[in-house]
Amino acid sequence: MNVSLRQLRVFEAVARLLSYTRAAEELHLSQPAVSMQVRQLEDEAGLALFERLGKRIVLTEAGRELYHYSRQINRSLVEMEEVLESLRGVNRGHLQVAVASTVNYFAPRLLAVFQQRYPGIRLTLDVTNRETLVQLLDANAVDLVLMGQPPSDVEVEATPFMENPLVVIAPPDHPLAGGQRIALVRLAEEVFVMREPGSGTRQAMERFFSEHGLSIRQGMQMTRNEAVKQAVRSGLGLGVVSLHTIELELETGRLVTLDVEGFPDRRQWHLVTRQGKRLSPAAQAFRAFVIEEAARIAAPACVRACLE
Ligand code: PGA
Repeated sequence: MNVSLRQLRVFEAVARLLSYTRAAEELHLSQPAVSMQVRQLEDEAGLALFERLGKRIVLTEAGRELYHYSRQINRSLVEMEEVLESLRGVNRGHLQVAVASTVNYFAPRLLAVFQQRYPGIRLTLDVTNRETLVQLLDANAVDLVLMGQPPSDVEVEATPFMENPLVVIAPPDHPLAGGQRIALVRLAEEVFVMREPGSGTRQAMERFFSEHGLSIRQGMQMTRNEAVKQAVRSGLGLGVVSLHTIELELETGRLVTLDVEGFPDRRQWHLVTRQGKRLSPAAQAFRAFVIEEAARIAAPACVRACLE
């Protein structure tokens, strides 16, 4: 059987994401190029690897078998690259960091300091939501991930490195603005603008309310923190966001945080790697840098002041 590594890499991405479009995005290829690689692999195997169910694609039995092996082969290839990388020394090589969309409010600040220290390291930053981060970890497709709650269904090593306070936000003219020690149950009367279900912020928020036996009313759903903030500003409801996302709005008075019982919900940011992953010297340097210095470099002034 004449199968190329490229075909297996493309197939692995399509099988993991169950989408030609998303695989093409991840691999920086066009969708026809991705379909062609899969078709060639199917011709070579003499079997269909995917079948269509309406708009979805699913793996056939042959596809599932091939997925098992293509994952193993991809992991070995990544491991091979890691071994070679580790022989090259710290100030070189390529470091792939993926962060939760909320982390992007402070990640560039960290990367700027790190890059100054290690100008020879080529950094790639992938910004995506929690659900995709878990998939990236599972596929061993990144070196390090910065996220809120570490996943429980993938074997990882996670180290907390900075506080992530979740706060309730409102427009400055909201009736609850300026109120002190607002009872948590009072929130049941409000509508909340929510992030999408794959968001770590959304999951933390749901966990908090369910732990406190409160069911809240869901208003609009949005896939970006920026959209949630704009919606809250426009009076579409209250929101729960990380304090890291509203530094500017608090400074300019465009949004306020509400003093609600139980808030801020003090969560932690974690640095997460796949269990047993062989980190290159560059990745080890980044890991140490984040754990030791991120809180000093990246906690916005308001995070410190607002929590005192
Ligand atoms: P999110 O992630 O940007 O997906 O909400 C934040 C988190 O991981 O807690």
